[in-house]
Amino acid sequence: MPADDAWVEYRKWGREYGELVYIQDRNILILNDSRVAIDLLEKRARIYSDRRMNPMMKLCGAELNMALAPYSDDWRRKRKLFQQNFRQSTINRFHSDQYNKVHEFLRQLITTPDNFMQHTTALSQRIIFSALWGLDVKPEDPLAQNGVKCILTVGQAMLPGAFPAIERFPWLRFMPSWFPGCGFARVAEQCIRALKEANTIPFDMAVDNLKTDKGTSLIAELASKCEGDSTEVEAIKAMATTSYLAAGDTTLSSISSFTLSMVLNPDVQAKGQEEIDRVVGTDRLPTFEDRFSLPYVEAIYRELMRLHPPVPLGIEHSLIEDDFYLGYHIPKGCSIIPNIWAMNRDPDVYPRPDDFLPERFLDFPGPFTSINDIRAYGFGRRVCAGRYMADNTVWLTIACFLATLNLRGPQDKQGNVISISEDYSSGFFR
Ligand code: HEM
Repeated sequence: MPADDAWVEYRKWGREYGELVYIQDRNILILNDSRVAIDLLEKRARIYSDRRMNPMMKLCGAELNMALAPYSDDWRRKRKLFQQNFRQSTINRFHSDQYNKVHEFLRQLITTPDNFMQHTTALSQRIIFSALWGLDVKPEDPLAQNGVKCILTVGQAMLPGAFPAIERFPWLRFMPSWFPGCGFARVAEQCIRALKEANTIPFDMAVDNLKTDKGTSLIAELASKCEGDSTEVEAIKAMATTSYLAAGDTTLSSISSFTLSMVLNPDVQAKGQEEIDRVVGTDRLPTFEDRFSLPYVEAIYRELMRLHPPVPLGIEHSLIEDDFYLGYHIPKGCSIIPNIWAMNRDPDVYPRPDDFLPERFLDFPGPFTSINDIRAYGFGRRVCAGRYMADNTVWLTIACFLATLNLRGPQDKQGNVISISEDYSSGFFR
C-alpha cells in the first residue's frame, strides 16, 4: 500500500488525535469512526448534507453532476427524480441490460483475457448507456471516450491542490487562458464542452430513437412525458449524465478489486464456486432470483465492499450551520470527510481487518442485512442514489464470474505462477 494514501494518513491522525480531526486552515473535519459519521451525517443530516465546490469545480460546470451539487431545492428535485427511477422497487427494469452486458463481459474475458481491465471499464459504461439511453456503445466509440474525459477532468478538479493558482486567487477566473498561470481556464473550457456533449448527444439519440420507432429507453420515455417543460427535461438529462459519471469508475473499481481479491485468495474463490455449483448447478448462469440462496457469494460481495470501497474518502459533506458535538464546536461551512476506508478497517468491528475473510459476514445477523449497512455507498441524505443498481451489477458480475471462470495470477514461460502485489492507484477513486 503506497505510504501517500490520504486515507491511511488520516487514520494515523485519528489514532493520534481522536475521533474528530479538524484542519483549521482548510475548515475540514475528518471522521475515521463510523459511529461518529452516523451521528453527524445521518442523525443530523438536515444540517450535514451540503456540498462545497472549489472554484475549479465551478469553472468546469461540475454542478451538472448531482453528486456535487449544493443542498438546494434544485438538488431536492433532482434527487427525487433519481429516487423514483433508481429505488429498489423499480430497478428490475435494468435487469435485462445487466444480464446482457455481464454475459457479454464473460465472453470477452474468455476470448481475450489479457484485456481484462479494458473489458471491466467497458462493462460499467455499457450498462449505463444501455439501461438509461437504450444505446449500445463500445468503449472505442467517441461517446464513451468523451465520457471518460469528463470523469477524469472533474475528478482532477476535485482534488485539493490540483489547480493551485485558481484555488489561491479565485479572481483569476476573469483572466483569459493565455494569461500566465491561467492554464486551468483551458482545462475548464474543455471540461464544459465535454460535459455538454455527454449531456446532450446520447439524450438526443435516445429521443430520436423513440420518435422514429427504433427503440425505447428510460430517458426517452421520461422526456416524452414532460415535453415542453424545459426544467424537467433538463433534470432528466442531468440524471442520465450524473449516472454515467457516478457509475463508471466506482463499478470499475469494485469489479477490478474483486478480480484481484480472487487471485490473491484462491480458497475464497473455490468456496464461492462450490456454492454456485451446488445451488445453481452447472447448466445455467446465476440470476437475481438465486441471490438469497447464495449466502457465501453474498458474503464475498459484502467483504469486497468493506475492504475495497471504491471512493475511500466518500464525497465531502458540508455543514450549513454551526454545530456542537462531544463538547466541540463544528463551524458552519466546514467540510466533512468520511474516511470510509478507515471505518471499514476498524479492528474492534472487524478482527483481522486487512484480510479478505467473507466468513465474518456469515455470523449473526448474516450477510443479507440492509444495503444501508454498506458504508462504501456513503451516508444520510447524500447516500449513493444509484446504490440498488450498483449493488445488482456488482453482485451479478461476481456470481457470473464464479460460475464460469477460474481466476489466477499470470504464469511465466515455465508455467510458474508469478506472484502479484496489491497495488492500488491513489486518487478520488481507488
Ligand atoms: C459500486 C458502485 C458505487 C459506489 C461504491 C458508489 C459510492 C458512492 C458514494 C460514496 C457516494 C457519496 C455518498 C455521500 O455523499 O455520502 C455516491 C453518491 C452518488 N452516487 Fe454512487 N456509487 C456507486 C455506483 C453508482 C451508480 C451505478 C450510480 C447511478 C446509476 C450512482 C449514483 C450516485 C449519485 C447520483 C450520487 C450522489 C448522491 C447525492 O449527492 O445526493 N452511484 N456514490
